[in-house]
Amino acid sequence: MGSGEGDPAPEGEAGIARVFDDWAGSGRGEGMEAGHWPTARQALDDLPVRPGERCLDLGCGNGYAARYLATRCAPGVAVGVDLSERMLGLALARSKEAPNALFVRAAFDLLPFPGASFHHAFSMEALYYAPDLERALAELHRVMAPGGQVACVVDFFYENRYCHRWPEKVGLPMHLLREAEWVERFQGAGFQAVRADRLTDPRDVPADWAFPRGDFPTREDLLRWRREIGSLRIRAERPKGA
Ligand SMILES: C[S@@+](CC[C@H](N)C(=O)[O-])C[C@H]1O[C@@H](n2cnc3c(N)ncnc32)[C@H](O)[C@@H]1O
Repeated sequence: MGSGEGDPAPEGEAGIARVFDDWAGSGRGEGMEAGHWPTARQALDDLPVRPGERCLDLGCGNGYAARYLATRCAPGVAVGVDLSERMLGLALARSKEAPNALFVRAAFDLLPFPGASFHHAFSMEALYYAPDLERALAELHRVMAPGGQVACVVDFFYENRYCHRWPEKVGLPMHLLREAEWVERFQGAGFQAVRADRLTDPRDVPADWAFPRGDFPTREDLLRWRREIGSLRIRAERPKGA
């Protein structure tokens, strides 16, 4: 899996870029899109995006969510941010029909945007990689417009027992937080109306899939994750007066 099979990844952002460059090169940008879309789409559709607004996708991978937001916010823009040049290459190559989907190489903890730039922010399966999560959330708060809405979705959280071995499999440090801790971190960064819920994946498991498969010893384990544990969504707003 990723660079976990080769030399250990360097620390910090260089390691993140290397692992996800490898993933992009081995087709995992598209694999993640296929895997994440059923829950990502629910979170994206719940963001009240209006034409002309500006949207941010933190850790955009192959850019599918930024493209989807771009169709909804036109003539506004959707900006995907990622550290991996090769993921950004995939995102650009797939976005020729979406001129208002823009992609920028940057780290979560130093976003190259003025304050109050975005009306909506989305992030799928990315924020827990931030080497300094507190600083990344402070940056997210800074770039959100007053009243701006955030939806952060993660599958790597404590209550999902199937994910606990990911750091060793992926070869990168990750923040394994409980649901309540995610809420506290967003509140600590100054967000209000912070709430957590779960997004489930209604897909059936194909009859010809063999188990054990990935993180799942049995078909019942995979269904339990998709239907009962689900993906953790944190929603938050930047206060209007802040
Ligand atoms: C697991 S992938 C998810 C990609 C996409 N959101 C999806 O749903 O398929 C995480 C992405 O976040 C990016 N990423 C991780 N840590 C980052 C950081 N500190 N700054 C910027 N990008 C980061 C990675 O390069 C990678 O493309």
